[in-house]
Amino acid sequence: MAAFETEILKRRTFGIISHPDAGKTTLTEKFLLFGGAIQVAGAIKAKKSTRHATSDFMEIEKQRGISVATSVMGFDYNNKKINILDTPGHKDFCEDTYRTLTAVDSVIMVIDSTKGVEAQTHKLMEVCRMRDTPIITFINKMDRDGMTPIDVLDNIESSLNIPICPLSWPIGSGKSFKGVYNIYSQELVLYQPHQKQDAHDTIKITDLSDPKLESYIGCEAAQQLLEDMDLIQVYSPFNVDDYLAGRVTPVFFGSALNNFGVKELLDCFIDIAPSPKARDTTNGKIEPNDPAFSGFIFKIHANIDPKHRDRIAFLRVCSGVFERQKKYVHVRTQKLIRSVNPTAFMAQAKTVIDEAFPGDIIGLHDTGQLKIGDTLTEGHLVHYTGIPSFSPEIFKTVKNMDPMKSKQLKKGLEQLSEEGVAQLFYRESDNQPIIGTVGVLQFDVIQYRLEHEYLAQCRFEPLGYTKACWISSENPTALNDFVRRRKHQIAKDKSGRLVFLTETKWSLEREIKEQADIIFQFTSEMVEDTLPK
Ligand code: G4P
Repeated sequence: MAAFETEILKRRTFGIISHPDAGKTTLTEKFLLFGGAIQVAGAIKAKKSTRHATSDFMEIEKQRGISVATSVMGFDYNNKKINILDTPGHKDFCEDTYRTLTAVDSVIMVIDSTKGVEAQTHKLMEVCRMRDTPIITFINKMDRDGMTPIDVLDNIESSLNIPICPLSWPIGSGKSFKGVYNIYSQELVLYQPHQKQDAHDTIKITDLSDPKLESYIGCEAAQQLLEDMDLIQVYSPFNVDDYLAGRVTPVFFGSALNNFGVKELLDCFIDIAPSPKARDTTNGKIEPNDPAFSGFIFKIHANIDPKHRDRIAFLRVCSGVFERQKKYVHVRTQKLIRSVNPTAFMAQAKTVIDEAFPGDIIGLHDTGQLKIGDTLTEGHLVHYTGIPSFSPEIFKTVKNMDPMKSKQLKKGLEQLSEEGVAQLFYRESDNQPIIGTVGVLQFDVIQYRLEHEYLAQCRFEPLGYTKACWISSENPTALNDFVRRRKHQIAKDKSGRLVFLTETKWSLEREIKEQADIIFQFTSEMVEDTLPK
């Protein structure tokens, strides 16, 4: 096999999604430990310690610095090249969190066994579903007393509406947690808290009627395990194609804190998770082994420090080999651009790279040319699709506090929205700018950056809306009529598309039902902004 194909097949580019506190950071650290890539006390822990911080500006800056370092963590494990893409949570939850999921090939979802599925997991799952992203589930904190395994599985199936397939099964939980039976590798793994995984006993047991089982976990637990294994026959046997098509989620149990069940998860992950696959463009699919380089920008990280105005654009390589110093076509402007110092992210370190393969994420230094959704190619004039703007949930109007600086404010707002920091709308009734975000921290970031980078002063006033969707119709009379009747709830986005704002999910659902001629969309393709009009 050509070396290029081997490189593609080696890659596993994925994101870990979870509700805050379910254990994403802890699990990431354990993965890095297995890959031999960590300084545990480094950036990831630091991120944790700042995340509850108030929205003090220095904290924002610090947090942003750290989040660049942990945006992509690459490491090698068992001859695979693994790229973990961070999906920020907590206060730093923002559109980047969603958009990062467009750059991954699969996802690991962490669920807290004591709490089951929580709000943020729902939201992230919706985004995964848009691209049928394959998902492996890790049920964490089995060292704590919580819901029964069957209850957690029922909870996942019913609230996330995805069939599950257990690939490991816990033996007890909380104080009586004894370990897991790894169904995938047919091994019994015995639990000892706070030990390194290699210190856990792993015993090959292919037949559960083997008397060895009882000798390890005792008669009662062995009996219970046999009963449970019988009970879980109700779940369909594991089928890798169903997993790869996003139709079922294989489930593992463990405790990230105790480094238990993590190796089983990682070993199965590298076995079954997909390597980079073909991706959609405006001109059909492009296969990763297409020799011509192509990739897209899914995130831009601006430096908040006015002395260093450079930005880093994160590019996902989709096909061919990216080479340093080579000129590529920036499809939106059809200009050639060259990256002198492209960086790769290995754990927390940034290193300059000479080449990158499909599945890799590279950082390109940018002086303002690149936008989220942009495609770079070796010559084809195509755009990658499926990099959406997501419907925001928090809305505030912007009041200018310095009439002499209204131009700066307008420019700042427009540029920040192009960077993807937040979405900018103008209300139809009074042309008032409205900022829409999916996370609260974004408002502090915007205010700080407007002040420091554009010398503009503003104040935000909250609006009661919680939902926004793009509206269109093939019936112009129906659309005009709706816009006229709802004029206080209509705004336009930066490309002039109509947006409908509502206060509750319920009122939006009512409109969707009543306005049969109007199409309501919860995402809008970023690429529409970049295509020539
Ligand atoms: P997040 O990134 O998803 O927000 O979660 P994170 O890993 O930060 O974990 C949240 C809390 O849950 C942490 O406790 C962490 O130690 C704990 N935790 C993670 N995995 C397990 C587990 O398997 N069992 C138990 N019992 N706890 C677990 P904390 O008190 O918030 O932080 P720390 O002081 O322990 O660092």
